[in-house]
Amino acid sequence: MPARILDGKALAEKVRARITADVAVVKEEHGITPGLAAVLVGEDPASQVYVGMKHRATEAAGMLSRQVVLDADTSQEELEGLIAALNDDDAIDGILVQLPLPDHLDPRPVQELIDPAKDVDALNPYTAGRLAVGDPTFLSCTPYGVLEILDEAGVPTSGAHVVVVGRSNLVGRPLANMLSLKGRDATVTVAHSRTRDLAEVTRLGDVVVAAVGSAGLITAEHVRPGATVIDVGTNRADDGRLVGDVDFDGVAEVAGAITPVPGGVGPMTVTMLLQNTLEAARARRGLPRR
Ligand code: GUN
Repeated sequence: MPARILDGKALAEKVRARITADVAVVKEEHGITPGLAAVLVGEDPASQVYVGMKHRATEAAGMLSRQVVLDADTSQEELEGLIAALNDDDAIDGILVQLPLPDHLDPRPVQELIDPAKDVDALNPYTAGRLAVGDPTFLSCTPYGVLEILDEAGVPTSGAHVVVVGRSNLVGRPLANMLSLKGRDATVTVAHSRTRDLAEVTRLGDVVVAAVGSAGLITAEHVRPGATVIDVGTNRADDGRLVGDVDFDGVAEVAGAITPVPGGVGPMTVTMLLQNTLEAARARRGLPRR
């Protein structure tokens, strides 16, 4: 039986409608307009698309969006100076530096400089460490979106074996940490490019999350019948189409549920960034989490 398609776009619309309503309330009741600054260095076409999407979504939710576009030859000092200024800027609640940066720039000191109270992209090692010790502040946007999709689909994580393929700081690592939090209670395996017999490992998963950036890596033989498959990959096929890490047509024949690319995880990444920005705006003014 073909898999149920988990529609991330529809879920994103639903969650964004709730965020938009919440933004209207903080504006009305507290005079707060949550503000997000997105920093783009250089002209990487994919990054331009992503930052543009984040900008439009932020404005559509009624928040302030400030896009800062810097030349590709911007120095480390200039970039760090900008972050320091955004940290001090009271209109800005969230700061995001789009990756990848040009090769001559080191992202680590930049991420470390972002005020943890404004770290809505959750890439500061302090923020990652808070999650790693089981006391998270902001949740990384893509893994957060993956959890929302599983929850919406009614796929339980408690006691489930989730195999995460990929160990990046953006997705694999934080997702594994979120899944093993008390209350989430998944059994987590992190597989990666050096994993022996990948198919044998992924077939253990009640849920398989593919986040490696390798088009079509996960095929039907990697998936136990009935498992849920979440595709975080965004790869360009030779013909320019956006494709995931999962061979969708083949895997949909065996999986119980599957996210498409596009229209799966991607729209939820942007949505959770909006959620984090709203939370940052509330928290910075001492308002309780919702
Ligand atoms: N590049 C690709 N995805 C992301 C993301 O979620 N955040 C940032 N900062 N850069 C990215």
